[in-house]
Amino acid sequence: KAASYRTLSGEKPIIIAHRGASGLYPEHTILAYETAIAQGADFIEPDLVMTKDGVLITRHDPYLSDTTNVADHPEFADRKKKRVTPMGEMEDWWVDEFTLAEIKTLKARQQFATRSMELNDQLDIVTFDEVMDVALKAASEGRKVGLHIEAKWPGYYSSVGLDMVDPIIEGMKAKGLAEAGIPVFIQSFEPQFLAAFAAKSDLPTVQNMVGPPYNKLLGLEYDIETMPTTGVGAEKSFILNEDGTTTDFVDRAHARGLLVHVYTVRDDQPLKGYDTAQAELSALIAAGADGIWVDYPDTAVAVRDGN
Ligand code: G3P
Ligand code: CA
Repeated sequence: KAASYRTLSGEKPIIIAHRGASGLYPEHTILAYETAIAQGADFIEPDLVMTKDGVLITRHDPYLSDTTNVADHPEFADRKKKRVTPMGEMEDWWVDEFTLAEIKTLKARQQFATRSMELNDQLDIVTFDEVMDVALKAASEGRKVGLHIEAKWPGYYSSVGLDMVDPIIEGMKAKGLAEAGIPVFIQSFEPQFLAAFAAKSDLPTVQNMVGPPYNKLLGLEYDIETMPTTGVGAEKSFILNEDGTTTDFVDRAHARGLLVHVYTVRDDQPLKGYDTAQAELSALIAAGADGIWVDYPDTAVAVRDGN
């Protein structure tokens, strides 16, 4: 018999490959994205930051040391700089102080000790254009996969003269994503960015939410009762309690017509109170999640589809 789901649409929840199949391969690489598609992910997720020359590239962080080999490039040794961030002072190599040509001399690295380092320093850093090409190629081969695009630190980039709204919109237009029928969500932790984006585009928006202490550090407040977006991107602790029970978060969001996408399920880092990623996935699906960001798409697709 067909499975029934408590999603807003009643359809099965989407599996969003978080930074690609990032549990298996260095995040935000073509290999990570293509593996996610091969494993059945419905969406792949590029996080976007900007280079000095205004090019969108796919990195989770606005700095380079954790996920690239920048520290091994002597020519960039004097480019390490201190900056005050919402999380405190940090010394690192900052993406917006590098041109795209310089970024393209770096290679990607896996950052988590629990994961394979085998492909470190071999794979290129991927631009927004290039990840769109991955989705377009899959579509041309009959495999429609969406892009769940996150703008990282848009307020900061705007403050140094690097707007993210127009480059994302124009980039998608130039690639013909809409004509190719590629589904897209635009997500951010910053409500001002999503409002600016929505003023220029009809694409569905997802307001990411982070809990304490980061919400306070970032000066961000969220209220799902008044959220003007298509959906909310909720950290999983908004929905799953450590004693195995669930909150009423999804029901409250659904009552307002908001989609609920939940981050992040990781096979190697289960939430306290859950023995396995499968248990977390089952609980989130039972709670009615409309989408789940995962580092291991094969695990999530198998749980969702009952295989
Ligand atoms: O964007 C939703 C989820 O990806 C947020 O987590 O990994 O971007 O910090 P992250
Ligand atoms: Ca993200």
